[in-house]
This record gives sequence, C-alpha cells and structure tokens, in this order.
Amino acid sequence: MRVGCPREIKNHEYRVGLTPGAVREYVAHGHEVIVETMAGMGIGADDAAYQAAGAKIAASARDVFARADMIVKVKEPQPSEWAQLREGQLLYTYLHLAPDPEQTHGLLASGCTAIAYETVTDDRGGLPLLAPMSEVAGRLAIQAGATSLQKANGGRGILLGGVPGVLPAKVTVIGGGVVGLHAAKMAVGLGADVTILDRSLPRLRQLDDIFNGRIHTRYSTIEALEDEVFSADLVIGAVLIPGAAAPKLVTREMLSGMKKGSVIVDVAIDQGGCFETSHATTHADPTFEVDGVIHYCVANMPGAVPITSAHALNNATLVYGLMLADKGLKAIAENSHLRAGLNVHRGRITSRPVAEALGLELAEPDLALKVA
Ligand SMILES: NC(=O)c1ccc[n+]([C@@H]2O[C@H](COP(=O)([O-])OP(=O)(O)OC[C@H]3O[C@@H](n4cnc5c(N)ncnc54)[C@H](O)[C@@H]3O)[C@@H](O)[C@H]2O)c1
Repeated sequence: MRVGCPREIKNHEYRVGLTPGAVREYVAHGHEVIVETMAGMGIGADDAAYQAAGAKIAASARDVFARADMIVKVKEPQPSEWAQLREGQLLYTYLHLAPDPEQTHGLLASGCTAIAYETVTDDRGGLPLLAPMSEVAGRLAIQAGATSLQKANGGRGILLGGVPGVLPAKVTVIGGGVVGLHAAKMAVGLGADVTILDRSLPRLRQLDDIFNGRIHTRYSTIEALEDEVFSADLVIGAVLIPGAAAPKLVTREMLSGMKKGSVIVDVAIDQGGCFETSHATTHADPTFEVDGVIHYCVANMPGAVPITSAHALNNATLVYGLMLADKGLKAIAENSHLRAGLNVHRGRITSRPVAEALGLELAEPDLALKVA
C-alpha cells in the first residue's frame, strides 16, 4: 500500500503521524511511504532522516493526499485536508467527531474510510491509542504544577519535595486512572506528599499496591474531596467518565477554602474540566487566577513536548497502522478493535456515539463494510 504522512497544519501542532522509526517498519512490510517535506521538523527529524528510513519526500500535502492510499496523521483533518480525501482512501488519526459536525460532514462527503485513534480498543477494554497522551499529560501536570507553585509565577512559593528539615508540598490527585497514575509517579519521584482520590475501590487497591505505601489513597466523597483540596498545595484534576463531560467536583465556593497561591492543574479540561472555575487555556498563556488559586488548564498538554508525544503516539499506533496497511478494509472486518475505531465509511457514520451526538443515521460497521 502507499502510505502518506502530511505535515500537521493545526495551530501549534508539532507532532507528526509517522516518525522515521515507524516509516522503517512500514517499509519493512513492503509498503511505499510518502512524507511531506518538513513534516518531522517539530520533533527534530529532517527530510534526510525520513529518506534514510526509506520514505519518499513529497513537495506538498496535495502531493501526499493525491498519491497515498492511506493517510496517517495526528490531529483531526482541517477543512483544506478533508477536501483532499477521496473515496476508497483510508484515514488513520485522532478525529473527535462527536462535537464537530463540520468535520464529520466533510469526511462523509469525501467518501473516505476514517479510523479514529481515540475509539480503537484493546483486549483489556482500554483505549490504547489514547493512553499514551494521558501518560504524557499526567507526567507533565506535575512539571506545570511545580512551576506554577513558584512565587514569581503567582504560586505559594513551595518546593514539591521540600528539603531535609522542611516538609514537602502536598499534592492531591483527583482521579487515579492513566493521568492520575502518571502524575502521582512524578510527584512521588520529586518527594511530594501525594494523595489520590478515586470512585473505584478496585483501582484504589491497585494504586496502593503499585506505590507500596508511598502514597495515600482515599475514596472520593464530597467530604474527602474537601479535606484533601483544602489542605493541598497542588491539585491535579484527572477524572473521566467515558463519553460524558467531566463532573464539576470542585465548586467555586470550595475555592475559598483553598490556600492562597495553591495551584490547580485541570487535565480533564478537554472534557470540560472538573473544577467549576476552569476554562481552557493555551501553551502561550497557560494560567489564570481565581480567588487566589492559580489555574493551569491547557487542553492539549502533550503538544508542549512533541518529541516525547510523537514517539509515544507512534509506539501505540504502529501495530494497528501496519494491520491497516497490510490488509486494508479486510483488517477492519477481521479485527474488532479496529472496527471500534471505524467512525466513517464511504459516506456513512459507523460509530454509535458519533451518530447519537450528531443526530445522524448509524450504519453498523460490519454491515457497512459488507455493503462496500
Ligand atoms: N489536557 C490534556 O492535554 C489531556 C491529555 C490527555 C488526557 N486528558 C484528559 O484527562 C482525563 C483523564 O484521562 P485518563 O486517561 O486518566 O482517564 P481514565 O479513565 O484512565 O481515568 C479516570 C479516572 O477517574 C475516576 N473517576 C471518575 N469519577 C470520579 C470521581 N467522581 N472522583 C474521583 N475519581 C473519579 C475513574 O474511576 C478513573 O479511575 C480525561 O478527561 C482525558 O481526556 C487531557
């Protein structure tokens, strides 16, 4: 198959759909890979690195879209990109179609077959192509929080790990999933006093085992939440109720009980945030203050570290990407996890949550594939 990778054009997106390492794998499977010139510059990979991996360099995105049978990207296609997709072409990328009718209609009109990274599943019921970005965001949350806690940045002026003879900072993590686990790992590594709250007792048991007594776990009730948020220097918001907006667990009134100069990092902001006072910010202007509490609410945290994020993403996308390139539509028909990722096929919506969110007719993926 001819696999194409255009340069990302969304504002401040520096990741790339295929790293040179991934290109080598596709080439080793007998595929021809076409990469747009400069596509990897954001991760420090120049055209020569891609050529050395076996890719052909295309002068423009137009060239990539015109020649490739399968397009591998990172972010959802922008209007100029979906206009270049065509019937029979495979698109493999993050899509987030449910809140985006314009893009959905663009993809439907193109006739392409689109697999959304965020809905591909695995045997353990997880979302393996979403998890690496949660790992990055969780780890980054502590770096961002530690920086915001510095006095010159508006914070209380406390070092997460303290020093011998001085107590460390208190970090409260709300939601002990992928983001929460990785935030806690970084906070523990820096010597902070860490508490994780979650609504899942099995998950709290698992976290207790993982950290072997090095963190506190607490069942998330209103009372427990207030205790932990009021005494914290840094609070990480990391809850997720799949498919739903994040619950507003920390209200505006609760903020007045928090320490002045304490910091909130609301990682769940991409689902609306779990603090009532949160609103999405950007890397260019990441924080704001409400009632003396610093809020960091960047909706695309992994974008700050494109080298780590692009490699982490490619590690996760490669295995399914190779299946798609090797077998085309047959791979989707044979593999239930790829079928879960199928959102659009030849002008029809094949994802139930997307169809329901946008009031469009659903075509069951296996039936849609048979008809085609
Ligand atoms: N801002 C960013 O750049 C960025 C990047 C990656 C992920 N995220 C977001 O971070 C959030 C967390 O993602 P994840 O991968 O860790 O999800 P996850 O499903 O792995 O974990 C969510 C956890 O929240 C817990 N939870 C649910 N309700 C709760 C409650 N009332 N109190 C306490 N815990 C509760 C769940 O039991 C689960 O353990 C998601 O909204 C995700 O989209 C944001």
